[in-house]
Parts: sequence; structure tokens; C-alpha cells
Amino acid sequence: MKIQAVKGTRDFYPPQMRLHNWILEGWKEVSLRNGFEEYDGPIFEHLKMYEQKSGEEIAEQLFSFEDRGGRGLAIRPEITPTLARMVNQRINALPKPIKWFSVPRVCRAERPQKGRLREFYQWNIDIIGVEDIVADAEVILCSVDYLRQTGLTEKDIVVKISSRKMLGKLLEACEIEQELHTGIYAALDKKAKIPEDAFEKLLEEKLPDQDKREKLLEIFATKQLSDLQENLQYSSEAAEAIDELIRLFSLLKSMGISEYCEFDIGIVRGLAYYTGTVFEIHDREGELRAICGGGRFDSLLKDFGGPSIPATGMGMGDCVLEILLREKGIISEEMPKPPVNYFIAVMDDELVETAAGLAAKLRLAGLSAEFSYKKAKMKKLMKQASETGAEKSIILGGEYIENKQIVLKNMETSEQRTVDYKQFCDELKYSEPNQENSEK
Ligand code: HAM
Repeated sequence: MKIQAVKGTRDFYPPQMRLHNWILEGWKEVSLRNGFEEYDGPIFEHLKMYEQKSGEEIAEQLFSFEDRGGRGLAIRPEITPTLARMVNQRINALPKPIKWFSVPRVCRAERPQKGRLREFYQWNIDIIGVEDIVADAEVILCSVDYLRQTGLTEKDIVVKISSRKMLGKLLEACEIEQELHTGIYAALDKKAKIPEDAFEKLLEEKLPDQDKREKLLEIFATKQLSDLQENLQYSSEAAEAIDELIRLFSLLKSMGISEYCEFDIGIVRGLAYYTGTVFEIHDREGELRAICGGGRFDSLLKDFGGPSIPATGMGMGDCVLEILLREKGIISEEMPKPPVNYFIAVMDDELVETAAGLAAKLRLAGLSAEFSYKKAKMKKLMKQASETGAEKSIILGGEYIENKQIVLKNMETSEQRTVDYKQFCDELKYSEPNQENSEK
């Protein structure tokens, strides 16, 4: 029986793993310089945690199971509920504000498609304990900081920003009942992904009243935040929420990233817990799904039995990001391997043991070393050395057998010199860090 990988999962062979690590290391580096500390949680949690708070879409995409005691569990589809649970557990002990990041491997039972898999990695950054919208700006800055670091520019990506609070107040101003809001958000979240008539049909299901629907469609057609402000026949609460969003744009300008950012009333996010700012980063051409998404979730900790404490953050998956970075020629499987300091070429089978011993000496001295497991012709050995990415080769052959000498070859310049084996090893020992310490 030939066993295949599960649909929607990936195998990371070493070239893909190098590329993958490049993405993950970038995420970590940028998180740290933006002042976030790393955390992680378990890969599965109680099923009810996600059913209650992540919203319908995610609840339908859970990989869930029962443990032997009949408890309903689920593999994490995201880490935000875990974060809320963890922070609540230590709420009094943790210094605020909390700025944490994580790179969990998560699973969603989605229909696999371009940029959407059933298992992926997701960079998360969150700030807990800051009510001011400056924290939302900081989350956006950190996301853009990473994408800029990869080499993407404002010509490649755009941060689309709106506010669920503002939208909620606008819906209220249109006298749309509170219990219909979630359904309307879910419909709006699909707007950009489905044809216009399908969206209108969906909206009709969620909001049967035609007059209200027409008012709403007019609001959804707004292109500029200033238009909303100017046509303000809405409530003072809506005006306040609009002002707050205007301040966010002003902060983003002060941070020097306004060319990346624009207002988009269509951004509402599928997850149920967002309460304020919501944003997504997309490719400028709009051909791919969102690279990342986030926003403010001021009630999640309280809903999980903790205190009322504001929170904001974002999640960026590795799938769409990788597609975009490949399309822009920023990454490819040809990414270089980390350099190997020495390749030991064996020209006689009786020298394999010596080669293994020498490789061990080099490694124990903190250098990277590879060796050929059996003898071969010089041409083949040098090819092997180049494929390994070695900086230098050590040739163990006739000179060694006759008078314990090795040939050192610089792989870049092809310069060669013969060196006494013992002397080479002695010098190595001398540079060995542990040895130096123990001598002191
Ligand atoms: P989300 O919008 O569900 O938000 O996911 C955020 C990002 O994860 C997406 O923009 C996408 O890059 C990636 N993603 C989601 N589903 C898939 C999938 N099936 N395959 C590949 N990538 C995917 C959240 O998860 C929130 N918890 C983010 C957050 C953190 N909000 C506040 N803090």
C-alpha cells in the first residue's frame, strides 16, 4: 500500500525547510526588535473554547476529537484563545502591557486552495492592556516592518483598515438590530471574495428589510474615511468611532508607513471576537487571499472569565506570504545552505576512520565539518565538497599515509598547501573555546 500525505498538508524537504526557516527567523527577529516576547501553548485545547469564541467559520473548520475520558478537544486553529486563557490565568502577576509573539503550527479543516491549507504556521503578535489606538498602530507597524524587511514594498502590499466599532455604530444609526450585526459582518467579510449579486443575496438573507439594506449598501460603497465624516447624518457615537480611525491613520503617518495603508470599509474579519480596529494586508494586485489579519479584541479576556482588559493583535500565515515572496522573486528553493567550514576528502578506504576522527575534532572545536564516507577520485570528491558548500577541503591521501601530511584546499580560490596533520590538530585545539576556558 502506497501511503500519501494528507490533503492540505506539506512536507518540508531540506530546501523547503531552509526557505521556511528563513520566514520564521524573520518573524522572530522583527518581533524582538518591536519589543515582543515569545510564548507558546499546547497544540490542542478544549473544543468549547473555539466553539464559543472563534466564530462560526472557524468552528466549522475544527479538527476535533474525544479523549478517552469523553472530553471534546480540538487541535488549535489559531492561538488567540490560548493567549487569552494563558493571560487570564496569570493576570495579576504579569506586568502590563503584555507584548507577546508566537509562531504556532495550526490546523483548520478548510478546503485546500491557493494560499489556504489545512496545516500552516501563523505568526502572531498581540498587545494586551493598552486601550489607546496607538497599540493598533504598533501592531500594524510591526507587520509592515517584517514585510519590508523581506524586500516587499508599498507597490507590492497594502494594509486595508477599518473599524468594527465604527461599523457597529453605523449599523445602529441605520436602526439595524444588534442581533443581526454578526450575520452582516460575516456577509461583508465575504464581499470581496464572491460576485456582487451573490453578496447582495447573502446580505438579503442576513438583513431582510430592504430600506435598511439600501442604506447599508450606500455605506458599504464609501471609499474615503473623510466621505463618511462629511456625510455625517449618523450618531455622535459613530462620529467618535470615525475620529478614532482618523487618529489611527495619523499615527501610521507619524510612523512613516502611510503609503502602505488605506481605509477599506469592506474589511470586517471573519472572527467573532473583534471589537474595534480591524485590518488585513493584501497583495496590491488583489490576486491572493489575505497575507495577514488582525484587530482589536477588547472583550475576549473577559468572555473567558478574566477581567475586562483591552487587547489588539494580528496573525500572519506562511502560505500566502510564501506565494507572494516567490512571485516577486525574493525567495526560491535555491536559497544557499549554511556554509560548511571543512570537507574532508578521503582518497583511500583505510583513511575513513582518520577522516571521521578529524571531523569529530573539528566539530568539537566548534567548526562545521563533513567527510566522504568512502574513497573516490579527486574530481568526484571536489564535486562533493562544492555541493556541501564547503569553504575548505582537507585531502587525506598518499601524503598522509607516507608522512602524516594533509592537503588543505581553499574552495573559493583553489589554492592548496600541504600541512602537518599534528600541527593542524594542535592549532585547532588551541582555538577550542572549551579548552581555553578549562585552562584558565
Ligand atoms: P485569521 O484571519 O483567521 O486570524 O488568520 C490570520 C491569517 O492566517 C490569514 O490572513 C492567513 O494568512 C492565515 N491563514 C488563515 N487560515 C489559513 C489557512 N487555512 N491556510 C493558510 N493560512 C491561513 C486569526 O487567526 C487571528 N487569531 C489573528 C489575530 C491574532 N487576531 C488578533 N490576534
